[in-house]
Amino acid sequence: MTVSSDSDDTGANDALTAAGQARQPVGIAVFLATLTAFCEAAAESLGGVADEAALEQARIEFLGARSGRLKAVQKNLSGLAATDRPAGGRHFNEAKAAVTALFSAAQERLAGSGGEQATDAIDVTLPGDPVRLGHIHPITQTIRRVQEIMARLGFESVDGPEVEDQWHNFEALAIPSEHPARDPLDNFYLAVARGAEPLLLRSQTSTVQIRVMENRQPPLRIVSLGRVYRPDTADATHYPMFHQVEGLLIEQGTTMAHLKSVLRQLASSFLGGDVHVRFRPSFFPFTEPSVEFDMEWGGRWIEMGGAGMVDPAVLTAVGYDPEKVSGFAFGLGVERIAARRYGVADIRDFYRNDVRFLRQF
Ligand code: PHE
Repeated sequence: MTVSSDSDDTGANDALTAAGQARQPVGIAVFLATLTAFCEAAAESLGGVADEAALEQARIEFLGARSGRLKAVQKNLSGLAATDRPAGGRHFNEAKAAVTALFSAAQERLAGSGGEQATDAIDVTLPGDPVRLGHIHPITQTIRRVQEIMARLGFESVDGPEVEDQWHNFEALAIPSEHPARDPLDNFYLAVARGAEPLLLRSQTSTVQIRVMENRQPPLRIVSLGRVYRPDTADATHYPMFHQVEGLLIEQGTTMAHLKSVLRQLASSFLGGDVHVRFRPSFFPFTEPSVEFDMEWGGRWIEMGGAGMVDPAVLTAVGYDPEKVSGFAFGLGVERIAARRYGVADIRDFYRNDVRFLRQF
C-alpha cells in the first residue's frame, strides 16, 4: 500500500470525499494537507464574519458536531495507516484547538465594542492635554475697564444697532440734511431699495443717546460703547472702523462742572494718578456749549474727545422738556485711550491679530 502524495492527490481527495463509505487508505501527507486547507478556510471565514448570524453559520460549517468540516476530516483519521494514526490524531487536535480559538476570538470581537477594550484605551491616570486659552483683546479690556469705572459713577452700559437710520444718526442729533457730516463720502451708506429709507453704518455712538432717551424718562445716566464706521484711510491714528465711548447724563440742574468732574474721575481711574482735564471751545450740532477736552498725562496735554451740554433741540426731539431737565454728553475714542494707556504707536496693531502683539496685554 503505497500512496504517492504527489501524483495521487486527486485520487486521495476522492478517497477523502468518499470517506466513511469506501475504506480507501489515506496517506498521512494527504491528511495533513487536508487539515491545513481546513484551517486556512476556517481562518478566512471566521476572520471576516461581520455579525452574529454569519458567525453561527461559520460555526456550523466548520465546527458543526453533525456535518461540520472538522467532523469530515476526523473521519479520515481512521483511514490512516495504524502507524500514522497517533501523529494524525495529534495534528487533528491542534487544528481543532486552533479553529476553536479563532471562533472564540471572532465571538469576542463581535460582542465587545465597548467593554474592556475601551477602558483599556484610556489611561485616566495620565495628565490631560492642556487647553490653550487665549485672553481678552486689549480693546475689549479697555471697554470693560471704562464700563467698570463709569458704573461706579452710576452710569449704566447700553448699546444699540450698528446699522442705523438717518433719524438716530443725524436728525434727532440736530444734524440737518444739508450738513456736511451727512456727505456720502464721509459715511458708509448701505444700498437699499429705491424709495426705501436710507440706512448707514453708524458714524458715532450718539445714536444710542437718542434711542435710550426716546424710551426712558430722566433722570438718566448711561454709557454706550461700541463700533462706529467712517470712510477714513487707515493710518497710525485712523481706521475705517473704531470704537467709541459715549456718556450721557440727564438730570435737573446739570452743569459743565458736573461734566468736568466725571471726565476727571474717568481719566484718573483709567490712567492712574490725579489726571487733570481741560476744556477748549468747539462745536458739535448736538451740544451747546461744546468743548474738546484734553487730559494732562505724562507732562503733556493730550486731546481725548468731544463733549458739551445736550442741545435743547435734541431734548425736544426725544420729547423731553428743556425747561425742566438738562444734561451733558461726551464721546471719546477707545483706540485712542487704549493706545495712550498701553503705549501703542499704531492703532492698526489692534486689528492685525498678530498674537505676538496681542499677548503683551
Ligand atoms: N459724537 C461725537 C463724535 O463722534 C463726540 C461727542 C459725543 C461730542 C458727545 C459731544 C458729545 O465726534
